[in-house]
Amino acid sequence: MPIKLTINHQQVEIADTDKDMPLLWFLREQQGLKGTKFGCGIGQCGACTVHYNGQAMRSCSVTLGQLQGADILTIEGLATDREKLHPVQEAWMELDVPQCGYCQTGQIMAAAAMLKATPRPTDQQVEAAMTNICRCGTYVRIRKAIALAADKLAKEVS
Ligand code: FES
Ligand code: FES
Repeated sequence: MPIKLTINHQQVEIADTDKDMPLLWFLREQQGLKGTKFGCGIGQCGACTVHYNGQAMRSCSVTLGQLQGADILTIEGLATDREKLHPVQEAWMELDVPQCGYCQTGQIMAAAAMLKATPRPTDQQVEAAMTNICRCGTYVRIRKAIALAADKLAKEVS
């Protein structure tokens, strides 16, 4: 039975012979969605974070066979239902968060999922949700950008 899922709002059908392939490989190598990064491959670093049914998930650690009916969103799809960038992306740009940039896709996806579930997170909630690693140590700017993005999102709903 083919695996059917949605990636960035598009229906995708995959032969079940690929069921053991990690989602990260499928996104990058077969869908051309290179924004999602490979870091450790063992669920530790968060560079590969996407949204799975609206929640942050490490795409290196889930196989296609586990994704029947799933709704997957990658960085390429984060702003497609908007006329401009997602407020988290805007905040990241305004505060010049990235250094090398490699981890930042995962950081943005983790932050966007957290703010959707918790629009005004406490420091402890940010700490708990943002477990992605940044080898360049951009953590202080990430925290500031999350606060700015929360303000921007609040303005959108007011
Ligand atoms: Fe997936 Fe590191 S590449 S968590
Ligand atoms: Fe370089 Fe995070 S910006 S690893």
